[in-house]
Amino acid sequence: MKHREPPWDAALTAAAGACVLLDADLRVRFATDAAARLLGGPVPVGISAPAWLCGDRPKRPIAEALAAGRPVHGVVPRPSAGAGGRALSVRSLPLHEGARLVGWMLIFGEAARPTDGEVQLFGMWTQDPSMKRMFHILEKVARDDVTVLVRGETGSGKELVAAAVHGLSSRSRGPFRAINCAALPGTLLESELFGHVKGAFTGAVRDMKGHFQLAHGGTLLLDEVAELPLELQAKLLRAIETRAVVPVGGREPIPIDVRIVSATHRALRAEVEAGRFRADLMYRLRVIPVFLPPLRERPGDVALLVDKLVPELNLRSRRAVARVEPAALAALERYDWPGNVRELKNVLAYAFAIGDGPVLSLSDLPRDVLDADAVTGSSPAAEGRADASSPEAARITRALARATGNREHAARLLGVSRVTLWRRMRALGLDEPARRRSSPSA
Ligand SMILES: Nc1ncnc2c1ncn2[C@@H]1O[C@H](COP(=O)(O)OP(=O)(O)OP(=O)(O)O)[C@@H](O)[C@H]1O
Ligand SMILES: [Mg+2]
Repeated sequence: MKHREPPWDAALTAAAGACVLLDADLRVRFATDAAARLLGGPVPVGISAPAWLCGDRPKRPIAEALAAGRPVHGVVPRPSAGAGGRALSVRSLPLHEGARLVGWMLIFGEAARPTDGEVQLFGMWTQDPSMKRMFHILEKVARDDVTVLVRGETGSGKELVAAAVHGLSSRSRGPFRAINCAALPGTLLESELFGHVKGAFTGAVRDMKGHFQLAHGGTLLLDEVAELPLELQAKLLRAIETRAVVPVGGREPIPIDVRIVSATHRALRAEVEAGRFRADLMYRLRVIPVFLPPLRERPGDVALLVDKLVPELNLRSRRAVARVEPAALAALERYDWPGNVRELKNVLAYAFAIGDGPVLSLSDLPRDVLDADAVTGSSPAAEGRADASSPEAARITRALARATGNREHAARLLGVSRVTLWRRMRALGLDEPARRRSSPSA
């Protein structure tokens, strides 16, 4: 009798379900039919698994772990465009021959529905384990008056975190004030923070309380604290150490009782190393450092937030959306959200306004999301800019092109503030190097 190939596919499917075998170079060698069904199409043999699974998004924990030879257990967006559905869970098992690593087996499943483990804290929804850990930390530290430093990208919820710290603390009946240190030139910022006395400068026709005094008995959020000019850093440090402020033009220190939470999108330590931020102030501010992961690093959260935001929009809109088409949800999950939750809110508001009927469909989504979906990271619209090589740079360039260079309009398209857009452009080298903090009107 003729020898026949054993039924590998059936055997692997029986043992592991939707699974894909990789060689030691992380190239796909074999996939079960069950995997093709789950992933929404045939799995291309020979393709590099990290690129196939994670595209070329800047942060790719799964791809990085695979490349580093670490076992993986996480969530990835569904790789095949238009497949629809929610994110997938993926687990990797190393395959050894003796001591030699000869490949990997990837086992896929439907990611747990977000409703499985969702939590909410002061309006912040998540099902992401690292966010949940952060919530626990907030609950623990909120009671004491320790200073909290929140780091996170624009729109990721820094202000909500600060509000939660306030709301969970014994100061919750006191005021909560926020001041954006990036939005005002130095001199104005100083009197906004510390107040001024009548006659301190032209136009100071009466005494004015600063945010420190206005937040007395409560919590003060110093937003974008890394942008604080050095002179004001010194004054802030003094205020924290002496628990008192001296208004501009004044002499007498005014005692204040304020809990400080600060926020920044930058690594404060790097700012210290670059000489732009005082080390002593950093240690005062980051007693409890809290990191807010960007939305693209908590994939299940996109679906969860869509579930939460659609009913909210239904209340406020003429359109009643009963359901989000799976392909639309898949596109949202694949997008990398440089403007984070704020951008997601804007994208949904756009989709509500543009489309009709009870099904929110792929065609209701704005170009940015669709373009990124069609060609992850390299859009023809981004041509002509060598530096538009990261998806974020490409998206900004595209928005600027659509807004014919008008930054205010481009910022609206991206769902971020003008200041944020300018900051991101500067960080990505898309802007002429602006002179930092050199002139009060900058
Ligand atoms: N986890 C979340 N669940 C629900 N809504 C959220 C969540 N995170 C943020 N939001 C919403 O997204 C928007 C942006 O959040 P927030 O203003 O706190 O971000 P931010 O990090 O302070 O942004 P920026 O850096 O631009 O100041 C707000 O409308 C906020 O309510
Ligand atoms: Mg903010």
